[in-house]
Amino acid sequence: MEPRDIEGDLTEILIEEEQIRTRLAELCRLIEADYAGKDLLLVGVLKGAVMVMADLARELVHPITMDWMAVSSYGSGTQSSGVVRILKDLDTDLHGRNVLIVEDIIDSGLTLSWLLSNLKSRGPESVEICALLRKPDAARVDIDVKYLGFDIPNQFVVGYGLDFDERYRNLRSVGVLAPHIYS
Ligand code: XMP
Ligand code: MG
Repeated sequence: MEPRDIEGDLTEILIEEEQIRTRLAELCRLIEADYAGKDLLLVGVLKGAVMVMADLARELVHPITMDWMAVSSYGSGTQSSGVVRILKDLDTDLHGRNVLIVEDIIDSGLTLSWLLSNLKSRGPESVEICALLRKPDAARVDIDVKYLGFDIPNQFVVGYGLDFDERYRNLRSVGVLAPHIYS
């Protein structure tokens, strides 16, 4: 593939790198206050949450552990099916743990709603959600997100961990793909 400026594939940048950094720092201060004196396990959802997990974890001034899950909710399309499969499960026993799920984006909410009840059934002390992005207009179930980065319009976005066909994850901002990329 020819090296090129991947930002040129976007019609619009929705959230700049600096805005993400600032917002994550604000969320970290809230998390630190809420979990003061408590253990905290961050559960990242692969692969989209890799960037937010890396930045959130390093900004936190709090002893944490990290674990990862991979789930599949979309077939090959861009619509959530609500049918979730675990592709990679946690290595950690959740009994008595304070779990914070770290997600890239809440679209229909179906994936997280499934994940939430799955993790809650494993005997944790608490389970909360931190998501960088949310599309309020796409919600099909109500999800209680304790730590939210940004609400965005109902458009397919890429960057900062989010992909189109596995590309654009390394973009530092979040943006909307140009139509010519799809065709
Ligand atoms: P649901 O609809 O279950 O979707 O809330 C959650 C997962 O779907 C992926 N997703 C996206 N990925 N751009 C992406 O690159 C998007 O606009 C988008 N919307 C949903 C994502 O993996 C999320 O965890
Ligand atoms: Mg995801």
